[in-house]
Amino acid sequence: MRHPTNPLKKDFPIFRNHPGLAYLDNTASTQKPDAVIEGVKRFVEFDYANIHRGAYGLSERSEILYERSKEKVRDLIGAATSAEIVYTYNSTYAANILSLSLARSGRLKKGDRVLVSIAEHHANVVPWLVLKEWFGVEVDYFGMTSDCEIDFADFESKMTPDTKVVAVTGASNVTGAVFDVVSLGKRISGMCDRNGEKPLFVVDASQSVPNYRVDVKEMHADFLFFTAHKMMADTGMGVLYGRKDLLKVLEPALSGGGAINWVKKEAFAPAGLPYRFEPGTPNIIGAVSLLHACEYLESIGGYARIEEAERPLISSALERFASLGDSVRLVGPIDPNKKIGIFSFTLKGAHVSDLAERFADANVCVRAGYHCAEPLAAELGLDGTVRMSLYFYNDENDLDAFFRVLEAVISETSE
Ligand code: ALA
Repeated sequence: MRHPTNPLKKDFPIFRNHPGLAYLDNTASTQKPDAVIEGVKRFVEFDYANIHRGAYGLSERSEILYERSKEKVRDLIGAATSAEIVYTYNSTYAANILSLSLARSGRLKKGDRVLVSIAEHHANVVPWLVLKEWFGVEVDYFGMTSDCEIDFADFESKMTPDTKVVAVTGASNVTGAVFDVVSLGKRISGMCDRNGEKPLFVVDASQSVPNYRVDVKEMHADFLFFTAHKMMADTGMGVLYGRKDLLKVLEPALSGGGAINWVKKEAFAPAGLPYRFEPGTPNIIGAVSLLHACEYLESIGGYARIEEAERPLISSALERFASLGDSVRLVGPIDPNKKIGIFSFTLKGAHVSDLAERFADANVCVRAGYHCAEPLAAELGLDGTVRMSLYFYNDENDLDAFFRVLEAVISETSE
C-alpha cells in the first residue's frame, strides 16, 4: 500500500527527476530545494562579483547578500553579532582553523589537554590529534552510557586541571544520539583549569543545526561549527562561530588577502572581525546558497516543521527495526525522543558493503562503513555499519522501500 507522499518533496527537483528514489543518506549530504537552486542561479546571473574589493554596484550587491547570509546564520544559532560568524569551507576546515589558531595563540600548549567524546566525527578528532603530533597537546576521550548518551560521570572524571578545551558533537552522525550539550556547557561554565580559566567549550553542530534549534548562548558554547551542505545549501560552505571576546584575542592560523588591514614589506596588520579569519576570496556563492536555505527553512515553518515531519518517521523506523529480530543490531538510542533520524546497523551474516549494494540496486541510497568515526566503531566493537538517515522531506514510502530490502536480505541470510 502506498502512503501519501510528503508534500515537501515537491520542493526538491531531485525527486521529480528520479521518481521512486528513496534518498536515505541525508547525514552524508542533503538534497537542494528549488528555492536554493533558483536563488543561486539568480544571484550568479544578476548580482555576482567579488566582495570587499569593488566600488561598483555588482560588488556591492554581492557583498550585501554575503552579509545578509551571515546575519541569517547569526540569528539561526543565537549569536550576538555577525562579527562572531566566520565563513569557511565545511566543518572540518572550521575545526582546523580553530585548533591551529588556538595553538598559534598559545591557548593550547605542550601538556595541555583536549577532551572529546568517543562519539566524535573525525572532523572533531583529527585536528586535535595533529596538535598532539606537532605540539605535544594531549587528547583524551570520555565515554557514553549504554544508550549512547554522554556519560557525565566519566566526563567529570576526565576533567583534569590541564583540560583547556572540551570539544563535543551535538548529535552523533553514527548513532543519531542527541547529546545534552546544554547541560555539558553549563557544567563546564562552572569549572576552572589550573590557571583559573574556564575550559573552552567547542560544539560540533554538523548534525544539530540541520535538524533542531541550536542556541550558542544556551549551550554556553565558546565555539561551534557546522557545514551548509547538510542543510540544503552548497558544498564547500561551512560556519565557525566564536565568542567575540575570544575571537578578538585569537591569532588566525591562516592569513592573506582579505584578512588584513595593511601589508608592508616586513609586516601586516590583521583585519577586523570576522574577516581576519577569512583569507582569500570566500565561497560567496555558497554563502548565498546558505542564505536561501535558511529562508526556505523559515518559509516551511522552521524547525517546528522539521520536527513535525521527522518525529513520526523516527518512531516508525525504530518500531520497524525492533520487529526484525536479533540478527539486526541497531546502534544508538531506542527512545525516539533522544535521537535524530540516523539509524546505523549491522546484520548477522551480511557484510555491510554487500548490504549497501543491495539497497543501491533497489534505488535506496544508504551509506556503509565507519562514517568518519572510527574511534566510536572501535568502542562499540563494530567493523562498520550500514547507515540509513532521514531528513524532513522523507516519508513512509521511503521507509517501505528501505525495509523491503532489509527484510528480503534477512530472509535470505536466515535460509
Ligand atoms: N560527515 C558525513 C557523514 O557522516 C560525510 O556521512
